[in-house]
Amino acid sequence: MTDPKLRVLLSSAKIQARIREMGETISRDYPAGNLHFICILKGACFFLTDLARAMKRDVFVDFMGISTYGKGKSSSGEVKVTKDLDISLEGADVLVVEDIVDSGITLNYLIHMLEQRKPKSLRIAALLDKPERRLRPVPVSYVGFQIPDQFVVGYGLDYAEKYRNLDDICVLEGVGEKE
Ligand code: IMP
Ligand code: MG
Repeated sequence: MTDPKLRVLLSSAKIQARIREMGETISRDYPAGNLHFICILKGACFFLTDLARAMKRDVFVDFMGISTYGKGKSSSGEVKVTKDLDISLEGADVLVVEDIVDSGITLNYLIHMLEQRKPKSLRIAALLDKPERRLRPVPVSYVGFQIPDQFVVGYGLDYAEKYRNLDDICVLEGVGEKE
């Protein structure tokens, strides 16, 4: 896709190599027991499918729909569950798989909600982390890449539902960063 507004930040090869490493680390950290990957829709679905295939052990996969952002780039601060899980988390090791941690509002809310479902353990894996933007504390156990405060698209991440199917993660230029 040639689009003058897009600048590659992380190439597909770099993303895939990092996910393979993450899969190996996470596999080592969970040698036994039921491990549930919870994909936060829609952005994390590309990351989840690659991370699950990089694992050296069985994983359960489930999906949760959460919306915090409207059609643009700023967080409304409101978190809404749009699709709940199908499988019970009771007694299971749970890894929330997220595309990016920005303000932390989404995951901070979600973690509190999931703790009430009595998992044996609960951790977060995020492909991207923008630590400068944090408003709420979020303990992220596995981070793919820390990135600067720039709005990125591709590999699941969208701007108004566009650009999700790019292979690379790109900075979307020409649109104000702090709306
Ligand atoms: P938070 O609640 O502010 O941490 O936002 C998390 C959600 O905002 C992510 O799951 C993304 O869907 C979205 N988001 C945050 N930063 C970006 C970005 O740079 N590009 C695309 N989506 C983003
Ligand atoms: Mg998301």
